[in-house]
Amino acid sequence: MRVAVIPGDGTGPEVVAEATKVLDAVAARFGIDIDYEYHELGGDRYIRTGEVLPDAELKSLSEVDAILFGAVGHPDVAPGILERGIIVRLRRDLGQYINLRPIKLYPGVRGPLRDKNHEDIDFVVVRENSEGLYSGRGSFAHHGTADEVAIEESVNTRHGVERCIRFAFELALTRPRRHLTMCGKTNILMYAQDLWQRVFDEVAAEYPDVTTAYAHVDAVCLWMVLAPERFDVIVADNLFGDIITDLGAAIQGGLGVAVGANLNPEGVSMFEPIGGTAPDVAGKGKINPLASIGAAGMLLTHNGQPQAGAVIDAAVARVAGELSSLDAGAMGMTTSEVGDRVVELVAR
Ligand code: IPM
Ligand code: MG
Repeated sequence: MRVAVIPGDGTGPEVVAEATKVLDAVAARFGIDIDYEYHELGGDRYIRTGEVLPDAELKSLSEVDAILFGAVGHPDVAPGILERGIIVRLRRDLGQYINLRPIKLYPGVRGPLRDKNHEDIDFVVVRENSEGLYSGRGSFAHHGTADEVAIEESVNTRHGVERCIRFAFELALTRPRRHLTMCGKTNILMYAQDLWQRVFDEVAAEYPDVTTAYAHVDAVCLWMVLAPERFDVIVADNLFGDIITDLGAAIQGGLGVAVGANLNPEGVSMFEPIGGTAPDVAGKGKINPLASIGAAGMLLTHNGQPQAGAVIDAAVARVAGELSSLDAGAMGMTTSEVGDRVVELVAR
């Protein structure tokens, strides 16, 4: 298996090092041969060379089996350059049209919701990952003047919406509850959400075994806190999916275990912790690597090694329950000690 590794900025390199350590251990156990190819992308390279993501490098990333991603974003680089130029570009240009984000409160983890336990918080968000308000389309008029107008356009194609919704229905079929909620804003967004609603209803008719619900995005936020047990699979557009998955990370105990898989079901997928670069704790051995390790587990699961992936998932769940907190600096262990503990569990 050829895996491209993009450690990136901030805490990215630290967490990715633990993920590859765990991958090596599980690969040895299951007889999987993994070749890593490292790509230096991120703030330091941009500052040094002006390069964000050269076309030739994008091409070589399109030729591997999977990508393991750390995080990008740099305090000395204006916001957006690296995020749009690396993350959003990779997602779009590699056709990773699904962002799959499991939200699970692991047994033994104390989340912020007082009355909820691990049976109540176990759902998956299917986020559309290539369109919507992430398309970078829009315009200014009268820029910098008192009459300025800024327009940001949300692009929603029938093709893009339908493949995302179909993916969510197929996923719902594989889960015991078989329940899918569409998260939208049909009461305000007259065009994009009208298309989403029509496609959702049409596709739903083909899946009589999946029960469906609809909730506006603001109500989804409310219910994620008050009654997260309502949710099994949620499908959302790109920006709504972005926002609700940070809330999801919060209710599962924090970004320390929040994993995202950017899937191109027919091509190269990319796996990442969703937590970002955490510059305040970078380089101190304080960051929780479980999200990155969980991303490595998803990488295996989605690349023909579901058993090896499941071994990592189980170890992540167990170690999450052993830590005193999932938060950076409060785990009761260092970053590499957490990695070592996972290795201990996956190696046997
Ligand atoms: C995420 C992040 C990214 C996004 C940023 C860093 C561009 O918040 O993966 O959720 O908005 O998609
Ligand atoms: Mg986000």
